Amino acid sequence: MIAELEKVASEFGNAESKVSRRVIICAGTGCVANGSLKVYAEFIKQIESAGLDIVTELKAEGAEGDNHTSTLLQKSSSAPIRLSKSGCQGFCQMGPLVTIEPEGILYTKVKPEDVAEIVQTTLIDHKAVERLLYRDPVSGKQCTGTAEIPFYQRQSRTVLKSCGIIDPEDIREYIHSGGYMAAKRAYTEMTPEMVCEEMLYSGLRGRGGGGFPTGKKWDLTRIQPGPKKYVICNGDEGDPGAFMDRSVMEGNPHSVIEGMMIAARAIGADEGYVYVRLEYPLAVARIRRAVADAEAIGVLGDNIFGSGHGFKINVMEGAGAFVCGEETALIASIEGQRGMPMPKPPFPAQSGLWGKPTVINNVETLASVPIVIGKGAAEFRQRGTETSPGTKTFALTGHVANTGLIEVPFGTTLREVVYNIGGGVTDDRGNVTGEGFKAVQIGGPSGGCLTEEHLDLPLDFDSLKGVGAMVGSGGLVVMNKQTCMVRIARFFMQFTQNESCGKCVLCREGTKQMLALLDDIMEGNGTEKTLETLERTARAVQKGSLCGLGKTAPNPILSTLKYFRAEYEAHVYQKRCPAGECKALLRPTIDPAKCKGCTMCAKKCPVGAITGELKKPHVINPDICIKCGACAEVCRFKAVSGV
Ligand SMILES: Cc1cc2nc3c(=O)[nH]c(=O)nc-3n(C[C@H](O)[C@H](O)[C@H](O)COP(=O)(O)O)c2cc1C
Ligand code: SF4
Ligand code: SF4
Ligand code: FES
Repeated sequence: MIAELEKVASEFGNAESKVSRRVIICAGTGCVANGSLKVYAEFIKQIESAGLDIVTELKAEGAEGDNHTSTLLQKSSSAPIRLSKSGCQGFCQMGPLVTIEPEGILYTKVKPEDVAEIVQTTLIDHKAVERLLYRDPVSGKQCTGTAEIPFYQRQSRTVLKSCGIIDPEDIREYIHSGGYMAAKRAYTEMTPEMVCEEMLYSGLRGRGGGGFPTGKKWDLTRIQPGPKKYVICNGDEGDPGAFMDRSVMEGNPHSVIEGMMIAARAIGADEGYVYVRLEYPLAVARIRRAVADAEAIGVLGDNIFGSGHGFKINVMEGAGAFVCGEETALIASIEGQRGMPMPKPPFPAQSGLWGKPTVINNVETLASVPIVIGKGAAEFRQRGTETSPGTKTFALTGHVANTGLIEVPFGTTLREVVYNIGGGVTDDRGNVTGEGFKAVQIGGPSGGCLTEEHLDLPLDFDSLKGVGAMVGSGGLVVMNKQTCMVRIARFFMQFTQNESCGKCVLCREGTKQMLALLDDIMEGNGTEKTLETLERTARAVQKGSLCGLGKTAPNPILSTLKYFRAEYEAHVYQKRCPAGECKALLRPTIDPAKCKGCTMCAKKCPVGAITGELKKPHVINPDICIKCGACAEVCRFKAVSGV
């Protein structure tokens, strides 16, 4: 088997060395949605019509190939151009992305119409097509490749390193990049105890939200008696806006499989499940293909690396309920029961799938495992902080110039993420203003909102917990000053209320109650009592719920109440929404000092609420006004406020 792996790597390397250039087209979900597959097809057409040789799939010499492949590779005189697809490169907002190697040119927002020019200018004339390069919105600088783009420069892509470079559908490319060597080490050079010890020493903590030490979890499972044990990969990823796990499954599925194999070695499991939500069809397809390819090549299956230890992986699609990401609910779902959490203990390590000891780990955790075992725990610990070693992926969204998937070492500050990687805070029109920062919501529905005073807080498990937030799955939503924090709290409460499985009264009824109280506040019906009841209910739900969904559902409310109380009070006592987002509380008025009496607003108002004479200040009748904001939009003198 080991010789087989080496053969695959060397044949692939040999085939690749005959290629002159490589054109990588991002085929992650975001870029595919923006037409990257059409760009791919156009490249085939244009490269061929330019008379250049092209390979779309590398084949070893003598192997049977598709019509573009093996014959071309045998021509040593005309080195062909290799065209390949990759997983998400993180910069989805700028997609479809096209990378040209070895120059390292990155083209953004590429359309099929641009392809002919890329082929002529870059592939034939060796020059960059300047208009397709990324321009930094802050400095205005044109960047040739990722090395010059601040969004990438400041990151530390480790788990995501190969996503966006290797072809996720070609196992040989993973093997050629050193893949499955960590599994080989775990199966041939280490005992299960040694694997657990190495993981413990690495300090790797679960990336699925809780931050539990992975080595500890594995060791607990390892010491359980009995021959049958399971490894489960949790690919449910139900947090709104999060797509880190999806990107890893789509962009580097073999890293997840290798992580599962090492976990299986550590605990003595012979069977595993990858649980992926139904809404991730590309991730499901790529994981399925990766499992089949790993089996076909003999890495996965019986007697792995001659160790006598076999491991089999099943792929299961979940129906997409957020609560099914909770480990006991997920196990119930695999067993064919309704996905509802169970009280712990017993922990899955003791009694998990079908009552057997089970390790359940997040996708990113598992993809980190080959890095730990392959390079050693000491090297892994070089990044991150003492108590949170390594790196973490975050889905950076909201009011920042650069949104997308990022990976930074634990301990990086929010300021670095928002201003340097994110490129700064934008206003509602998408312009970087330099002073618009209001808050960051971190950790999805389980997380909390942080303020300007937390901008220098290091992002790690413990410091975030200390201020009432959490790393969670890694959602990071930046908000500008025009954002109402009550509305944000309501957004997450609506989500958890919809997703509550209903097993606990406090979660089922409490989330409904909190939602109604937030509605009262936003509609101008809140009183002092409303605020009191909201806080009391939040604390009760936090205490009395069975699973993490209910326990953390109040976090967005409690953290906004803590850091943005004045905003709640303005809604309750002054019936005013300071951010101007709560429609019921808007009071459009015209400032007579600014109004020139141009009559534009009166003409535009759809309900005739504005009156006034030409060249004299106009007024809005609040009883007729429907707060549509048309007047503010049309007024060139900014005389209308309150909408
Ligand atoms: C409501 C709820 C949803 C969850 N969703 C996920 C999820 O989508 N993916 C995930 O890995 N963990 C999720 N978790 C955490 C898991 O229960 C579990 O802790 C995690 O998969 C363990 O893996 P780790 O130790 O590698 O983090 C969720 C927990 C709760 C309470
Ligand atoms: S806390 Fe909520 S989601 Fe969790 S078991 Fe109870 S009702 Fe279900
Ligand atoms: S559009 Fe502006 S300036 Fe003109 S009448 Fe209305 S409020 Fe006054
Ligand atoms: S899908 Fe292409 S960069 Fe994310």
